[in-house]
Amino acid sequence: MRARRQPSLTLRSTLAFSVVAMLAVASAGMYLYETMKASVMTRSDHAVLARLDHFRKLLQYDLTLDTLRSSPQLFENMLDSEDDIFIIAEPGKSPVIMVNPLHAPLPEMPVVEANAPLSSDDLRSAMVNGDVPMRAATVEALSGGKVVHLTAAHLAVKEMATLANFRDRILFAVALAFVLTAVLGYLLLRRGLRPLRKMADHATAITPARLDSRMDSRDTPVELQQLSDAYNAMLDRLADGYQRLTQFSADLAHEIRTPVGSLMGHCQVALRQPRSADEYQTLLASNLEELERISRMVESILFLARADDAQAALNRQTLDLEDELQRVTGYFEGLAEERQMTLRSLGNGKLNADPLLLRRALSNLVANAIRYADEGSGIEIRVVDGAGQRRIEVENQGPVLSESALGKLFDRFYRGDASRHQSSDSNGLGLAIVAAIMQLHGGEIAVNQPTPGKICFALVFPAARSKTL
Ligand SMILES: Nc1ncnc2c1ncn2[C@@H]1O[C@H](COP(=O)(O)OP(=O)(O)OP(=O)(O)O)[C@@H](O)[C@H]1O
Ligand SMILES: [Mg+2]
Repeated sequence: MRARRQPSLTLRSTLAFSVVAMLAVASAGMYLYETMKASVMTRSDHAVLARLDHFRKLLQYDLTLDTLRSSPQLFENMLDSEDDIFIIAEPGKSPVIMVNPLHAPLPEMPVVEANAPLSSDDLRSAMVNGDVPMRAATVEALSGGKVVHLTAAHLAVKEMATLANFRDRILFAVALAFVLTAVLGYLLLRRGLRPLRKMADHATAITPARLDSRMDSRDTPVELQQLSDAYNAMLDRLADGYQRLTQFSADLAHEIRTPVGSLMGHCQVALRQPRSADEYQTLLASNLEELERISRMVESILFLARADDAQAALNRQTLDLEDELQRVTGYFEGLAEERQMTLRSLGNGKLNADPLLLRRALSNLVANAIRYADEGSGIEIRVVDGAGQRRIEVENQGPVLSESALGKLFDRFYRGDASRHQSSDSNGLGLAIVAAIMQLHGGEIAVNQPTPGKICFALVFPAARSKTL
């Protein structure tokens, strides 16, 4: 079943950025709106207070109520708009001047005494028609010995309209920020993520036959560089593994074909005419030998194939090297004697390793030494410590190998010329197995020719490992 498709990264990031941009513009807008509202309101408050103060003085010094009564228009003209309210009245009597074009109801207000200074604390607020704020105050004045109450108020109709207009612009800016960020962000991100699509295209085009093509990471952004490098490195490993696998199966087919062909040939020849029991016995014995070799080869190949990912299966133990070397020399003594060779083991110490695998590696080296060394020569197995390593060396006398032959010894199926002619017993897998075993232990196998005619193989274990226990 196909997994549910996740929304695209581009879309998600674009949306996230757009929301952030929108919030940023909205907060800035809100801040500006509140600042503007406060300043507009303060200005209108000051206008109301200034008007009251002005008329209080006028009434006290110049104007009389009677003058006012006779020319009320004078006042109406003095006010700039119908948003202003102005009332002059003697307490308890009907107003002398009453300018309130919208008939707005006034809030309850304290009366500021005649000589007290006016401040914005004396203003009271009310809402007219539900959404228009009004600010109003009342002061007392003494005009020609009479007490007069002056009331002034301002309806913030125009201010509210300006603010509403400003708010609409802010909303528009917020929407614009969202849309612009979304569109530009989408385009930019798509462009920025192009290397990813290129990588996907590249990966799609990879087949076993085209494992050699690599991503060009020169124009890749830093963040994707790591991915692209890792991807290329993965392709390197795959190509290498695939190449080895191809080589391995080709070699395998080749190696198996020869013995199987020769087995078939022997059988066909034998079947051509009646044979004696002795002849059949000889044939069966030689076939058995060949079959044993094939069986060993298959077993070795299986071991190598498993060793490639057998790290977890390593059964490490602390081993006494003296015991181990004795065991191996004991085991091979008979074979060595057949070729008049002497086996000598030197050295001791502890080693943390898988006992079965260590024995297998050592046996392979000693078996090789017995097989390829000059007849009658000596083989020495020794433990050498130093330079942060513990080495188990197997040294014997034998044919001088060329540098190029030395480099190939550990390849699977590599057999020296001598061994090809010498024995049908040889598969060319022994040293490859030793190398695989050493790799599993985090060490390596080394070979050198200390003097011409001497060859020395060394199992090199890192000391840190061997000393952990
Ligand atoms: N001690 C040695 N002295 C000289 N040549 C050696 C020695 N050990 C190995 N070689 C050369 O290296 C080749 C590879 O050795 P390796 O052990 O991998 O395979 P093999 O001995 O031929 O076959 P197998 O071990 O699979 O039965 C040998 O064929 C031989 O030519
Ligand atoms: Mg061998």
